Amino acid sequence: MSPYKTVINEAKSTDVVWHLASVTHEQRVMAQGHLPAVIWFTGLSGSGKSTIANAVDNMLYDLGCTTYLLDGDNVRHGLNGDLGFSDADRVENIRRIGEVAKLFVDAGLLVSTAFISPFLADREMVRNQLGFGQFIEVFIDTPIEVCEQRDPKGLYQKARAGEIRNFTGIDSSYEVPLTPEIHVETDKMSVNACAEKIVNYLKTKGYIEATADQ
Ligand SMILES: Nc1ncnc2c1ncn2[C@@H]1O[C@H](COP(=O)(O)OP(=O)(O)OP(=O)(O)O)[C@@H](O)[C@H]1O
Ligand SMILES: [Mg+2]
Repeated sequence: MSPYKTVINEAKSTDVVWHLASVTHEQRVMAQGHLPAVIWFTGLSGSGKSTIANAVDNMLYDLGCTTYLLDGDNVRHGLNGDLGFSDADRVENIRRIGEVAKLFVDAGLLVSTAFISPFLADREMVRNQLGFGQFIEVFIDTPIEVCEQRDPKGLYQKARAGEIRNFTGIDSSYEVPLTPEIHVETDKMSVNACAEKIVNYLKTKGYIEATADQ
């Protein structure tokens, strides 16, 4: 169960007034030639979020889209460097990412995010922060045995040895998406095929031109 409420109830800024931008969101979207959205990758560590998100970002970039990629470890180096991996810190991590992703969407971008984001409630919170159709949940569905065998960062080995605590799938829970927009099974498809499935979704749903060549 997400402890998110306990986090946002601590809002400390009062007497702040929203200043309306001169260039509107609609104008920014018109300038792009595609619709903005957050492509939210979720899944276990080692499931393939970063790998596929990068492949998708590359494909979209090659199609002429304005994109950005927010990736777990990179964000934890800077913006969220003060956060650990307790349940409360994971929630705050996602809340901040959601806010940043929302700014990118406001600017008209297709932004991919690659975070484990293990809690259903937190992913729903980000969905609710955004407008209709602006949150595309991509479940990178990889059995934990496969993730553990891949172990690209050696994290499962450390977690099994007790050197890392609160590791998702081992001693911290992962809540499987119930109705993700896109479901990708990486033990059955290549990286390229997984990325193409996502880009094809964007074409079918009209986020990008269906005729755009890859
Ligand atoms: N079909 C596939 N899709 C994605 N990755 C795959 C696939 N097949 C094999 N892999 C490999 O699985 C590993 C996935 O690692 P990756 O860093 O992308 O995971 P992650 O979900 O971002 O993990 P973390 O949450 O720790 O950042 C890579 O080494 C990648 O080459
Ligand atoms: Mg990653």
